[in-house]
Amino acid sequence: MGSIAGMTADQIVLIKATVPVLVEHGNTITTVFYRNMLEAHPELNTVFNTPNQVNGHQPRALAGALYAYASHIDDLGALSSAVELICNKHASLYIKPDDYKIVGKYLLEAMGEVLGAALTPEIHDAWGAAYWQLADIMIGREKQLYEQSEGWTDWRDFKIADKIKESDEITSFYLAPVDGKPLPGFQPGQYISVQTYVPALKYTQARQYSLSDKPRSDYYRISVKKEAGIDSADPAVSAHPGYISNVLHDTLNKGDTLQVSHPYGDFFLSTTEAEPAHPVVLISAGVGLTPLTSILNTLTSKAPSARKLHFVHGARTSGARAFSEHIASLTKKYPNLNATFFTTHPSEGEKEGVDYHHVGRVNLDKVKQEDLFLDDAKTEYYICGPEKFMTDMESSLKGQGVSSDRIKMELFGTGGVPH
Ligand SMILES: Cc1cc2nc3c(=O)[nH]c(=O)nc-3n(C[C@H](O)[C@H](O)[C@H](O)COP(=O)(O)OP(=O)(O)OC[C@H]3O[C@@H](n4cnc5c(N)ncnc54)[C@H](O)[C@@H]3O)c2cc1C
Ligand code: HEM
Repeated sequence: MGSIAGMTADQIVLIKATVPVLVEHGNTITTVFYRNMLEAHPELNTVFNTPNQVNGHQPRALAGALYAYASHIDDLGALSSAVELICNKHASLYIKPDDYKIVGKYLLEAMGEVLGAALTPEIHDAWGAAYWQLADIMIGREKQLYEQSEGWTDWRDFKIADKIKESDEITSFYLAPVDGKPLPGFQPGQYISVQTYVPALKYTQARQYSLSDKPRSDYYRISVKKEAGIDSADPAVSAHPGYISNVLHDTLNKGDTLQVSHPYGDFFLSTTEAEPAHPVVLISAGVGLTPLTSILNTLTSKAPSARKLHFVHGARTSGARAFSEHIASLTKKYPNLNATFFTTHPSEGEKEGVDYHHVGRVNLDKVKQEDLFLDDAKTEYYICGPEKFMTDMESSLKGQGVSSDRIKMELFGTGGVPH
């Protein structure tokens, strides 16, 4: 085995040998790491997503990334899509090279605290070298992303230019830059991070929101679901209404200011050019329709195209569904666009074929098979919704012979979609 820049061959062997340790103790190490780091650096509470610490998603995502890294230490190419996802998220939160010094210090200290004498000086040094090898790759990619951002390299003040209710639970925010300068474009499917003060926490928090309309130079539109809060029977779990979505829905109004990142994200339409191009099927559940609506609006913003499109969407009720009229009007305008709506709980008086197409959750077997364009080996499938929904859609498509490189998924959470 040859040595990788910055690491000796012996160190690489040691890192690979540590994989079982990460499987066993990875979550404990990363939980201890976050606790110690946030105690010593309370200012980082604004950077990290507080509920993702409480519910363990963030420590799990970091442990998963370290495990994948240790497993592929001699084949880093296998990590490129994971690194791309993480670096886009980091860039949208304006993580800086100096932050890696803090994370590296507390990560290695947490390994020592959890593993005790098992963390020999050799293993400690091997992990120090490995951490910086990965950190340098990520810092390098984030530097590129910042350089491509046309000088927009930190939080920028935006005003809420308009606030429009789209459904019982989803409201759109039209965000215009306070400096009035034209906005850069983005790839339809990408997101921005939005940062604002949370009175319940007494500090700011940031969340990602997919851009829900086609690119424009005067505003960005996001469409946000009001998260009521989990209904937990466990008294140990202090469920609270979602911090940022409730501030957006209940507190912030037209004219108010918040902070916004440059658009980022690794989930986007592969091409908007080439006409006529391969068919595109957009499959979503609930608020997962936002990035797909951006893709749909982009694809239908040009002169009538020969491109075949299908929008499949599921919502609990018709009232919870956003953009119903908009999508219906697009289907009338574009003969090559069809839409299929699923409703889990139709209201009394609603009719199949009028208010929705099918009762129940999204089921691709119920969609007209010719509308899934399965016979075209180039058709692309973009999926967004809850994790289980996406993996179900993915296996249904794979079962119909669709190759995984044509299935793209966006998780509205942390840790990526498990495969
Ligand atoms: C790439 C990306 C794109 C996204 N796009 C959109 C979009 O277009 N529209 C949209 O609405 N959202 C989108 N999201 C989700 C969004 O970023 C937020 O996660 C969402 O708005 C909830 O944030 P919040 O601050 O309101 O809730 P949080 O305060 O972060 O809480 C999250 C959830 O956890 C629950 N919770 C509360 N307490 C606990 C506890 N003790 N243990 C476990 N869980 C608890 C809350 O009730 C809530 O439902 C996207 C996310 C990503 C990563
Ligand atoms: C080599 C070092 C690092 C690794 C391996 C790593 C790994 C990860 C992973 C796997 C995620 C989840 C991505 C997703 O699925 O959305 C993530 C998100 C994040 N990371 Fe890092 N990270 C590193 C360094 C840092 C540093 C230096 C900071 C800043 C102090 C940081 C701050 C964050 C934040 C704020 C998030 C989003 C949290 C959330 O939404 O819950 N990370 N990182």
